[in-house]
Amino acid sequence: MKLLVTGGAGFVGSNLIARLEETGDHEIVVLDDESMGSREAIADLDAGFVKGDIRDADVLDRIMPGVDAVVHLAADTRVIPSIENPAVNLDVNVNGTFEVLQAMRRHDVGTIVAASTGGAIMGEVEPPVHEQMVPSPGSPYGASKLAMEGYLSAFSTSYGMKCAALRFSNVYGPRSWHKGSVVAHFIKQIFKGEPLTVYGDGGQTRDYVFAEDLSDGIIQAITSDATGAIQLGTGIGTPLNDIIDMLRDISGKDFEVEYEPFRAGEVVFTYCDISHARETIGYSPDTGLREGLERTWNWFADNREKLSI
Ligand SMILES: NC(=O)c1ccc[n+]([C@@H]2O[C@H](COP(=O)([O-])OP(=O)(O)OC[C@H]3O[C@@H](n4cnc5c(N)ncnc54)[C@H](O)[C@@H]3O)[C@@H](O)[C@H]2O)c1
Repeated sequence: MKLLVTGGAGFVGSNLIARLEETGDHEIVVLDDESMGSREAIADLDAGFVKGDIRDADVLDRIMPGVDAVVHLAADTRVIPSIENPAVNLDVNVNGTFEVLQAMRRHDVGTIVAASTGGAIMGEVEPPVHEQMVPSPGSPYGASKLAMEGYLSAFSTSYGMKCAALRFSNVYGPRSWHKGSVVAHFIKQIFKGEPLTVYGDGGQTRDYVFAEDLSDGIIQAITSDATGAIQLGTGIGTPLNDIIDMLRDISGKDFEVEYEPFRAGEVVFTYCDISHARETIGYSPDTGLREGLERTWNWFADNREKLSI
């Protein structure tokens, strides 16, 4: 199977490619503009690399022939900058996805699995987050992912393509050196000897899914007949203070934690319901949080010199 992975040089993409290598015989080509990821991040993996922008129809026409399925991960993933400048997010995430879908039509590629989001699409709702809820995004980033899902649905119905929108919860794991998400950020701070900053009392919950489990869900979605929105997470809400306690234990370091007031607009309690993913694609995340954090910590420790932290 030949797979095009857009954004494949990023965090989720590099974990996915590593997992694909372990689990089967796939030909992989990555399209990435290196705005966040880099080809060095996947230099140890067996994947072709094309530097380019998903909004560039010429590049897409060059690489799409012969592709069996697209895993579409490329996006402007930054939530706060999307509030300051909503136009960039719209252009990359909506127009970019539209260009990918159009190129698929031109080259008869019938399957796409695209990265969406559970939290940002829903806004403030009573957990668990699930696919039957009416989305109400609170940020332009969330709105761009919802618009993307709209086009996936339309291309599925209008042109008979198999389009799935995988709504990721909070992903953590190895290869996340460039991410500002909480686990990667805290680990980098611990290595630098900096205090950790928590906004609120640390009781806020998130659904932390290990990148390898998420990758298995993406692979299951590619090979299944499932279409539409599918929530991927763990089904468990973990308080931030529990993450901090585990990192203290794993690192063996007695770092400071500074508690600041809650930031306006931040969701306090959230986790998701993964029953639909279990039923439709056989998704079954099984890495415990302690184990996943330890493997993430070890990856950072092993690559510390290369990452200059
Ligand atoms: N990491 C999470 O917790 C999380 C949660 C929900 C959804 N997602 C979604 O999963 C996907 C992957 O996220 P990630 O965490 O790996 O982010 P990432 O930033 O590490 O990866 C995104 C990749 O896309 C590339 N890219 C950005 N704009 C591009 C463009 N115009 N053309 C080509 N390449 C471009 C970047 O260089 C980067 O390598 C994104 O769509 C994101 O919105 C991630």
